[in-house]
Amino acid sequence: MDQSNEAWWRRGIFYQVYPRSFQDSNADGVGDIRGIIERLPYLESLGIDAVWLSPIFPSPMADFGYDISDYTGIDPLFGTMEDFDALIEAAHGRGLKLILDLVPNHTSDRHPWFAESRASRDNPKRDWYIWRDGKPDGGPPNNWLSEFGGNAWQHDAATDQYYYHAFLKEQPDLNWRNPAVREAIHDAMRFWLARGVDGFRVDVIWHLIKDAEFRDNPQNPHYVEGRPPHEKILTQYSTDQPEVHDVIAGMRSVIDEFADRVLIGEIYLPLQRLVAYYGNDLGGAHLPFNFALLSTLWSARSIEKIIADYEAALPAGAWPNWVLGNHDRPRVASRVGREQARVAAMLLLTLRGTPTLYYGDEIGMHQVPIAPEEGRDPFEKNVPGIGVGRDGCRTPMQWDASERAGFSTARPWLPLASDFAHENVVNLDADTKSILSLYRALVALRRKLPQLVTGTYEPVAAQGDLLLYRRKSEGQAVTIALNLGAEPVSVTSSSIAFGSKILLSTFLDRESEPIDGALDVRGNEGVIVG
Ligand code: GLC
Repeated sequence: MDQSNEAWWRRGIFYQVYPRSFQDSNADGVGDIRGIIERLPYLESLGIDAVWLSPIFPSPMADFGYDISDYTGIDPLFGTMEDFDALIEAAHGRGLKLILDLVPNHTSDRHPWFAESRASRDNPKRDWYIWRDGKPDGGPPNNWLSEFGGNAWQHDAATDQYYYHAFLKEQPDLNWRNPAVREAIHDAMRFWLARGVDGFRVDVIWHLIKDAEFRDNPQNPHYVEGRPPHEKILTQYSTDQPEVHDVIAGMRSVIDEFADRVLIGEIYLPLQRLVAYYGNDLGGAHLPFNFALLSTLWSARSIEKIIADYEAALPAGAWPNWVLGNHDRPRVASRVGREQARVAAMLLLTLRGTPTLYYGDEIGMHQVPIAPEEGRDPFEKNVPGIGVGRDGCRTPMQWDASERAGFSTARPWLPLASDFAHENVVNLDADTKSILSLYRALVALRRKLPQLVTGTYEPVAAQGDLLLYRRKSEGQAVTIALNLGAEPVSVTSSSIAFGSKILLSTFLDRESEPIDGALDVRGNEGVIVG
């Protein structure tokens, strides 16, 4: 596998599509594959390189596709296998790579494997899932909690044992200590890779192996009242076990059976532990998702520290990556505010490492308030009222000002944002100073300047709300100055190369402005200087 700087997944920009909400082509209020094909020209025009699709496989949709009942099919809601083949061909025809979501930690409880497994204690597939006896008093085998609320063990009356589910009870965990499970998922990977898929984003990859002895997890001494209940215990024995790296190396070797494919891992861990997922000799995930920007305090010093810690922790030769949003976390525009969303865009597209954009962030979509009766997310339903719901970041893409925002002709499965008549692709494209125009300009500049892709990252000392760094390659440098506050700041010219000018401001109104003396950065402004 090409690990050089030339590898497409190092140079490229990734874009996550949440298929239910991207484009509906058959008027059922849910997005689908034909809809994605219709919107490929838009994706190509954005200048991104790879599209990652959240799951499109057959599923009862208890967790909107993250509960799979057939790893090698397409759910009729999204279309057919022919539609999928047409999508690969059309995407590749436009020079776009296509990444699928692989959900190997758990299946749907309706997967035929689980039906067999639960049928009897001596079924050949019994050991494909995690079955344990209850405690002598009949209670669950240990104290592990489900991430979606309640106990992680479900008693199954038919065989009087419990099965483990890290998420919904409709999502039983597979037993990755069983080689037959590994083989079955490897074969599913090969099925898609042979069809031309360019790689996988692997769901909750750090969950795959659990403690062999199923020891109780320790209490979390730092639990904060009002946070989701599963945070009451730490996941010391239920996630991030040393043996997981062997499992990932196995997946990676399947990826490497095919030319030029990528393995991305979904991992929520502190940076120091995250970087272990590159694997021994970089034989793990090519890109263990770095979610540090999703939960950071939005301040110059916190972000500067995250970048420094991450850069320092990366193993030799490992390639960094950055994420601002996904289908599980509140929209960046709501986390940091509308003004700072533009600064965040400049940060994402000027840091060293592969950026992943979340659909709609490029048009500044914010978290949409969802009335309880319109809520769909099972997490919110199980743990109501404390703000864990993920529907607000999964609402339909806002394409134009027509009745359903150009997303559908039917009532969408989730409500549209109330401001879509103005905040949509058509309108924002017509506005040369919009956030969409900024995203386009940032992508274009990143494509033009190798410093922004393969250049080194060098922090430049700064104070207060200013985040300052340089990207340098082959003697050419650009400096990025981001003002994370609302007050103007001034950067002395000694921090910036002599004779420089502004290449881009997040306000899109200072291109080519020469810098002499000092660089003045307005409140909530970011600039690239070179
Ligand atoms: C991942 C997915 C999330 C899903 C969970 C369980 O975190 O991103 O949407 O609910 O796994 O599969």
